[in-house]
Amino acid sequence: MSILIDDHRQKYIYVLHEFMQRFYGIIWPPRPNIKRGLPTITALLFFLLVAVFVSSFWINTYKFSIVNSINKHQEPPSIIIPSNCTTENYRNQTQNYPIQTIHGLNLSIPKPICPDYFRWIHEDLKPWKVTGITRDMVERAKPTAHFRLVIVDGKVYIDKYKKSIQTRDVFTIWGILQLLRHYPGRLPDLELMFDCDDLPVVRSRDYERGQPNVVVVPPPLFRYCGDRFTLDIVFPDWSFWGWAEINIKPWEGLLKEIKEGNNRSKWLDREPYAYWKGNPYVSTTRQDLLKCNVSDKHDWNARLYVQDWILESQQGFNQSNLANQCTHRYKIYIEGYAWSVSEKYILACDSMSLLVNTHFHDFFTRYLQPVKHYWPIRDDDKCKSIKFAVDWGNSHRQKAHEIGKAASDFIQEELKMDYVYDYMFHLLNEYAKLLKFKPMVPENGGAVEISSETMASMAADGSEKKFMMESLVKSPSVTSPCTMPPPYEPKILSDFYRNKLNVIKQVQKWENI
Ligand SMILES: *[C@@H]1O[C@H](CO)[C@@H](O)[C@H](O)[C@H]1NC(C)=O
Ligand SMILES: *[C@@H]1O[C@H](CO)[C@@H](O)[C@H](O)[C@H]1NC(C)=O
Ligand SMILES: *[C@@H]1O[C@H](CO)[C@@H](O)[C@H](O)[C@H]1NC(C)=O
Ligand SMILES: *[C@@H]1O[C@H](CO)[C@@H](O)[C@H](O)[C@H]1NC(C)=O
Ligand SMILES: *[C@@H]1O[C@H](CO)[C@@H](O)[C@H](O)[C@H]1NC(C)=O
Ligand SMILES: *[C@@H]1O[C@H](CO)[C@@H](O)[C@H](O)[C@H]1NC(C)=O
Repeated sequence: MSILIDDHRQKYIYVLHEFMQRFYGIIWPPRPNIKRGLPTITALLFFLLVAVFVSSFWINTYKFSIVNSINKHQEPPSIIIPSNCTTENYRNQTQNYPIQTIHGLNLSIPKPICPDYFRWIHEDLKPWKVTGITRDMVERAKPTAHFRLVIVDGKVYIDKYKKSIQTRDVFTIWGILQLLRHYPGRLPDLELMFDCDDLPVVRSRDYERGQPNVVVVPPPLFRYCGDRFTLDIVFPDWSFWGWAEINIKPWEGLLKEIKEGNNRSKWLDREPYAYWKGNPYVSTTRQDLLKCNVSDKHDWNARLYVQDWILESQQGFNQSNLANQCTHRYKIYIEGYAWSVSEKYILACDSMSLLVNTHFHDFFTRYLQPVKHYWPIRDDDKCKSIKFAVDWGNSHRQKAHEIGKAASDFIQEELKMDYVYDYMFHLLNEYAKLLKFKPMVPENGGAVEISSETMASMAADGSEKKFMMESLVKSPSVTSPCTMPPPYEPKILSDFYRNKLNVIKQVQKWENI
């Protein structure tokens, strides 16, 4: 389970990952409707470079797996969670706890309705609403899954199929374990397949009725993002519990730091330009964005920087603290290979977010509305569009600040960690209601029970261990989950999307005047 890697190797994995993303992005366009650049000479050079990296990586990995197998026979590392806090102890103390007696909980106080983005849980599970979910459907999701998660009697079992990128799987499973500590004894038994890669894979057109010889019901597959053409079920990504490789701290603490940062740096005092810092090599659209940087010839009001993760990791990430990046009035969000975890950090700054036309969604972003929470930027003429947005904002300062504030309030209030747990709770609960079979621990011996202490004791020293300790749920929630809102009426939902498109078109018209 754990990825016992030293910092040096993490760095290489990171580089490799970024190169691979670029490599796939060029030779393997996954969907016809997304424009991707044609292979160029540069791409071929990259290919060679990647080949060199891959071979050196495999040598490293090979050496490493030997080291790992030797380590397995050594003394297990000491458990670092205080012993009075072990999972068994915790479970004994909290499971079957009469909910009414948990301190401070008053059941006659109506629970608040969950934020509106929870309504998309109904949309994501719609394909199985009539048929339910059979074991066969779950098994059909296995080919791309990184692991099967089984919850039986409040215990978590993992059947791991393949290694994920970095520590995505580790922190995702860690997050689910924390959910069980947050709401002990309240999660139903279930089995699900989880794919930790970026791109959604369950294409809706493969499951359309009326096609001969096709299975009509899609496999339920959990992952971090989706798009209009796919049916993957979206789930909060690993970064809510920390992204160890690039030192992004767990969400709960980071959200507080960003709030304090926003308080220190008032909107009007910020630089009146659009800021972006990131890795441009993961997609052609990001490289295209760099053309909008300020130069001797043009000022498109954009200030763009390349994130050099290697250098930053050598310098202890002292330049990449997200809480210190709310220094400009406008912040650009642009997708990478798929959705990017950076979106929540960008929206959390009080600055007005400029969203370059998005193709992917994660669990909360479908709710965001143009000109209310962000300013839409077209992706076919980015520079002009950014310049227009910044000029508009600087001449409508109050409005621009309101847009920035609407997004940061939404993130601070409705995307706080309690609601992330509530989202996971409701999604898993609604999913489990659809299961037509009794979830069971797989008998082939592949599945292992996993708990917070086993994970923490296997975690690599450094950020991985530190972030786990920081995001460990220390006591059960004193309140019940929020109340699940009903599904959208289909008409309301289609009006919502139409309205969104109309607003975006309206902004484009203003740009052209
Ligand atoms: C757990 O044990 C530590 C050290 O013995 C103690 O400081 C802490 O208060 C204990 N926590 C609980 C919840 O009992
Ligand atoms: C937890 O409860 C079980 C059954 O009641 C018991 O056998 C076990 O010893 C308890 N564990 C701890 C750490 O208290
Ligand atoms: C619970 O809340 C209700 C409504 O606010 C109140 O009337 C009642 O006294 C509370 N009960 C307790 C035990 O605090
Ligand atoms: C924001 O700053 C004000 C005074 O400058 C202070 O009273 C308030 O507590 C701060 N709020 C936060 C969240 O830091
Ligand atoms: C963009 O321009 C600024 C200011 O000249 C410069 O510091 C920065 O390195 C440039 N970014 C890129 C990606 O070239
Ligand atoms: C970050 O660390 C590097 C090397 O330790 C140092 O040279 C640089 O000045 C530091 N930057 C800041 C802003 O502290």
